[in-house]
Amino acid sequence: MRDDGRRDARDEIARRLERARARTLALFDLVPREADLHASPGFGFRPLIWHLAHTGVFEAYWVLQRAKNEPAPDERYERIFDPIATPREESKELPSRREMEDYLARVRSRVLDFLARAPFDSDDELLRDGYVFRLILEHERQHQETLAYLLQLLDPAKKSRPTIAKRVDDETARLSSTPAAPHADPAPVASPAGAMIEVPAGEFEMGAAVESESSPVGGFVYDNERPAHAVFVPAFRIDRRLVTNEEFARFVAEGGYARREFWGEEGWAWREKEDWQHPLYWSREGGAASPSWSLRTMFEDAPLPPSHPVTGVSWYEAEAYARFAGKRLPTEAEWEKAAAWDDEGRRRRLFAWGDAEPTVERCNSDFRFWGTTPVDAFPAGASAAGCLDATGNVWEWTSSKFAGYPGFRAFPYPEYSELWFDDDHRVLRGGSWATHSSVLRTSFRNFFRRHFRIAFAGLRCAADA
Ligand code: AVJ
Ligand code: FE
Repeated sequence: MRDDGRRDARDEIARRLERARARTLALFDLVPREADLHASPGFGFRPLIWHLAHTGVFEAYWVLQRAKNEPAPDERYERIFDPIATPREESKELPSRREMEDYLARVRSRVLDFLARAPFDSDDELLRDGYVFRLILEHERQHQETLAYLLQLLDPAKKSRPTIAKRVDDETARLSSTPAAPHADPAPVASPAGAMIEVPAGEFEMGAAVESESSPVGGFVYDNERPAHAVFVPAFRIDRRLVTNEEFARFVAEGGYARREFWGEEGWAWREKEDWQHPLYWSREGGAASPSWSLRTMFEDAPLPPSHPVTGVSWYEAEAYARFAGKRLPTEAEWEKAAAWDDEGRRRRLFAWGDAEPTVERCNSDFRFWGTTPVDAFPAGASAAGCLDATGNVWEWTSSKFAGYPGFRAFPYPEYSELWFDDDHRVLRGGSWATHSSVLRTSFRNFFRRHFRIAFAGLRCAADA
């Protein structure tokens, strides 16, 4: 029995690895000209193609070198695609896509060989229950989202909409035509825009226990999500909805980017240095008398959709908006309590709506729509407290610095989390339209520097009770 269970677990991991690789390659297929994959997407970021080899190098390092104790399969790759050892400026003159794919295939076949017989009952924490295989899977999925950020920076004319996007178009059409979708449940949706939920004071359990193998998030959590621990949160209020483009446009129109009072010192310095005047993906159309906005999405430039969440804002811009609105950003603990805490069951949910898997009825994730959706489109995905879109659509900036929970232990390497426990990184929660289901778990902690603008990140405001 036990052995059968392990066999199933291995097969399941192998299947997931295969699906992840197919999606990775499909993302590169969006860009037909290889030269476009090798160009820097701007803002000093590494070329798209770097992420392809990096995925293979990470896999070779953790599974083959560290867990299996073999020498590096290709020293040159090891050197160029180690993000810590090789700074961005040296990431030039990279091998071709074809050559990288060969490298990836070589690594993958050795990884799958090892997966078939690696001791899942090992004393080595890296191997026990196949941790290292789940790690590379999660890593590849996360780089897919990073790829999506970089792809969105690329001129739509340089991308071809994939055949899988057809399915997405059908779903989008269904979402907007199904009477059940936008306004079916009056409870969470009929409240006026900006309505807030009151969350009473109390203790809840923050962070993750290890998930079971059968859970939709697949039995994996990062070191920074643990250990689960009790946190007392004073009463607070939090917005039911994400801040929309329409709301953010009001901030811009009322001089939000020019009025010093909404900004802290460091945020103002960044605003000046990079001349921020509006969110990253917006551009101004029409004259000063009647300005209107256009939005760059993955495949087109189109009029700004007013009811979609704002995205392409740094933490500084999010904070400035919250101040303008007379509110503030939620702390990470407030966010988790409002998004993941189940009032009745008195336990943490895997996703905002419960433990059932993410579907097109519940949220916008997994590249289903290739972009944002209206903030009230998923009443079936509301959290117990009543927050909409707490899982998916866009990441949500919190006010909290990225730091270890009490009792934090770095595993398997300090460079995943611990290196970024600094004064600059802030935590984001909830996941975006480009986040994989497994990464959508309510305990997942994303983190970026405060001036980082290319993430599919927006905000939900909070306030003291
Ligand atoms: C958690 C998304 C901030 O992309 O820098 C990828 C994830 N870590 N490879 C990042 C990560 C190592 C990380 N983020
Ligand atoms: Fe990485």
